[in-house]
Amino acid sequence: MTPSVFSAKPSVLRCSRCGKFVDWAEARLQVVCGCRTHLDLPPVFTREAEAADQPAALELFRRDFGRTSIASFGEVIPLAETSTIVADMEGDISGALAWRQRDDALQIVALATDPMWQRSGVGGYLVAEAEIVARRKGWTRVVLATTNDNLPALYFYQRRGYRITEVVRDAWRDHAELTIGVGFANIPVLDELRLEKTI
Ligand SMILES: CC(C)(COP(=O)(O)OP(=O)(O)OC[C@H]1O[C@@H](n2cnc3c(N)ncnc32)[C@H](O)[C@@H]1OP(=O)(O)O)[C@@H](O)C(=O)NCCC(=O)NCCS
Repeated sequence: MTPSVFSAKPSVLRCSRCGKFVDWAEARLQVVCGCRTHLDLPPVFTREAEAADQPAALELFRRDFGRTSIASFGEVIPLAETSTIVADMEGDISGALAWRQRDDALQIVALATDPMWQRSGVGGYLVAEAEIVARRKGWTRVVLATTNDNLPALYFYQRRGYRITEVVRDAWRDHAELTIGVGFANIPVLDELRLEKTI
């Protein structure tokens, strides 16, 4: 899908009201009740990325985070060097999750769902698969970092049992070029929030 179908800047999220794709700055938060209908959608297949999947996965990450390396837990991690799980929807790479080992934990380095497939279960299945990988390896935790502006991600992970363990204020103050720069709803990107789930 062309990133510029609905907007000039790369679209990272999909409006839950009108379906338009939006970039970080243009996105807004909206509270809804349980009226949201459950859509019957094709099943989500998750699998370890093959070499042929890597360009699509890296493109999803690049579009969401503006680069193919991620600043997290005090390090800059090149996504080409992580393991990747991809979600396959009707033959399309609809989402990707990059991970690596961090002590006795699986660290989710990046997670992105193509806006076209958001709210279809893709992100949830990718995280569930990462938790299965961690359990298989005998690790006891899944950890990740996000930024203060990313309220949708904080909602998403806490809904799935993740707890905030640490807030690193001004985490990337001296290296703002390593963060996405423009935050969700134009909220300044300042702090790193670390989350974890015991599995
Ligand atoms: C955060 C992100 C990965 C979530 O991915 P997603 O694929 O939309 O996630 P899911 O579809 O699994 O879940 C989202 C919602 O859709 C709902 N949903 C899933 N399948 C559905 C269906 N068939 N019908 C209706 N709703 C559905 C889920 O229940 C969930 O809502 P809830 O938590 O209120 O219950 C995605 O928004 C994204 O790529 N964001 C930009 C990048 C980012 O912020 N990454 C994380 C940084 S650390």
